[in-house]
Amino acid sequence: DTAPSSTEPRLGFAAVSKSLADAVIVPAGYSASVVYALGDPLTGNARPYANDGSDSDMESRGGDHHDGMEWFGLSGDGQRSTTASDRGLLAINHEATTNESLSSFFLHPNGGSSTRPRPAAEVDKEVAVHGIAVVEVRRADRRWATVPNSSLNRRLTPLTDVDIAGPARGNRLLVTAFSPTGTRTRGTLNNCGTGRTPWGTFLSGEENWAGYFARGAADDAARGNDKSVTALRRYGRAQGATSRHGWESAGSDDRYRRWNISRSGTSADGSDDYRNEMNGFGYIVELDPYDKAKSAKKRTALGRFAHESASFGVPVAGRPLAVYMGDDSQGEYIYKFVSAAAWNPADANRPAAGDTYLDAGTLYVAAFGADGSGRWLELSMSNPAVANYAGYPFADQADVLVNARLAADAVGATKMDRPEWSSVNPANGEIYLTLTNNSNRRVEPASASQFAPDAANPRVYTDVRGSSTTQTGNPNGHVLRMKEGAAGSSATTFTWDVYLFGAEASAAPGSVNLSKLTEDQDFSSPDGLVFSRSTGICWLQTDDGAYTDTTNCMMLAALPGQVGDGTKTTLSYPRSAGGTLSVDTYVGKSPGPDALKRFLVGPVGCEITGLAETPDGRAIFVNIQHPGETTAAANVGDPSRYTSQWPANAGYGAGRRPRSATIVITRDDGGPIGT
Ligand code: FEO
Ligand code: CA
Ligand code: CA
Ligand code: CA
Repeated sequence: DTAPSSTEPRLGFAAVSKSLADAVIVPAGYSASVVYALGDPLTGNARPYANDGSDSDMESRGGDHHDGMEWFGLSGDGQRSTTASDRGLLAINHEATTNESLSSFFLHPNGGSSTRPRPAAEVDKEVAVHGIAVVEVRRADRRWATVPNSSLNRRLTPLTDVDIAGPARGNRLLVTAFSPTGTRTRGTLNNCGTGRTPWGTFLSGEENWAGYFARGAADDAARGNDKSVTALRRYGRAQGATSRHGWESAGSDDRYRRWNISRSGTSADGSDDYRNEMNGFGYIVELDPYDKAKSAKKRTALGRFAHESASFGVPVAGRPLAVYMGDDSQGEYIYKFVSAAAWNPADANRPAAGDTYLDAGTLYVAAFGADGSGRWLELSMSNPAVANYAGYPFADQADVLVNARLAADAVGATKMDRPEWSSVNPANGEIYLTLTNNSNRRVEPASASQFAPDAANPRVYTDVRGSSTTQTGNPNGHVLRMKEGAAGSSATTFTWDVYLFGAEASAAPGSVNLSKLTEDQDFSSPDGLVFSRSTGICWLQTDDGAYTDTTNCMMLAALPGQVGDGTKTTLSYPRSAGGTLSVDTYVGKSPGPDALKRFLVGPVGCEITGLAETPDGRAIFVNIQHPGETTAAANVGDPSRYTSQWPANAGYGAGRRPRSATIVITRDDGGPIGT
């Protein structure tokens, strides 16, 4: 008979319906407006983006495909502030560009070139819209806007000088013609999920960087079939691999040449060519968003893979820090980094603390047990399974970290349904991880690229879309959660369950809609996942291709319970030779109508990703990534044939070409979002 306290989270809005409209839909009583879109002026000029392909100064403008994002407050006099809620910096990942047959077609007047060699002027623009932006935003009365030409605005691109930090710094695997000492690399690429350190800096995960590199058809032999060939194959670059955009074809200058990683020199170590160039990508990058004089640092101790977010466990004084990370590809792994240094709360105000906590420590990978337990397996040369691995001879710890996927193979980690974002529940320290989907989960795998169901990736089903499209595997994905053992951040055991299974509400409750989602809750392909520090709400965002005949991508608000609050469930699959395969799994308590609600649906063809909030919880910033991505390149120039005209149709900016953009959401009565 006690009323909930005012700080106890609850969802105080009416769920929004699924939508195919070319618009951002938010609940009654809320407003959403665009603050920062592709091409908006940041540094160097204030000319609005023409949005017709004519702008060429993209390194001083907003980048493309806004993804993860974090808030860094500014006091009235422009200093670091952990409490300011009306002025701050947004650090934003610009992951990629809308692409079909090489060119990033909305960036060029005529859709750009679709054959190699690519024109250098087109490539320069495409390179420049990748990377990271830091942009100042301010609230005046009720209205948020960016501050063009703020002295703190900044762009990092794939050409910005970045330091290599941690155990791989100076290692022979990082030696290139650009950095013969193996201590620097140019730029950051395909920046996807984000994180925020306990000392107030920005973390950015480099995800699908491998696809930007070309490798010659005879490069295995050119490399003398050395072990780099094994590593390149494991990271998706077999010889003959072609690049996503053909950037390597734009000229002989090494800013183009670098995208071809074929061996061409004669040095033993790669200092006369770019054979090791790709080893400079695939890291968690740390940036101090307040200090333009400081280079970003690639934290190699956290491993090299297709990084999404990096989320810290709740820091405890005198204990190591833990960082949780996913590797987003089919059958890849979940990782944890544990710092060697114990947390000193005084470091919360020391922006250089990353050198203390992120360069020395232990990397682990997760193995999920069928009984609801799990183990963190150490990836180091002191683990015999790594040191003696027959599949790849590791030379040293730098080799283990640069080739973390091979080390994780060596220890027998669990192959997951595409690990995307992680976030830690501030209320109890439990770790949440989205597994977005996996079209290659099969009851009876027929090749090494297919994966049998297991307890943590238990569903294999057929999802029929409309009258024609059938998807198999785990098309809708799920959300996993983990609870560390008694040792907390440094524990090597954990327990786990599945918090939510994505499904449409009408799907079979016994085998697909295991979480019993209703029409106000159903979703597919969870990707972004961020816990609010102010309200405790778990925000869940989708990047979906399996439910988009019914609804555009969305964001939901959740108030989760805890690991073990649900039930053990056994799924049974018929085998082709007769009999059944039984898989035990652990299904979290089904969310009631007040514990999971759809909060937002985006425009056509977009993904919803990234969430930053002001410390008072009264404004949240969300990214609308690649609206209109489904447009055919041949239709550039004919707005009536764009699949989306957002945000122009919401009154933002010139032209009709769709643009990735950051929106801000506020409550009309000024209250905290979602409560
Ligand atoms: Fe960039 Fe896996 O999302
Ligand atoms: Ca993602
Ligand atoms: Ca995704
Ligand atoms: Ca995307």
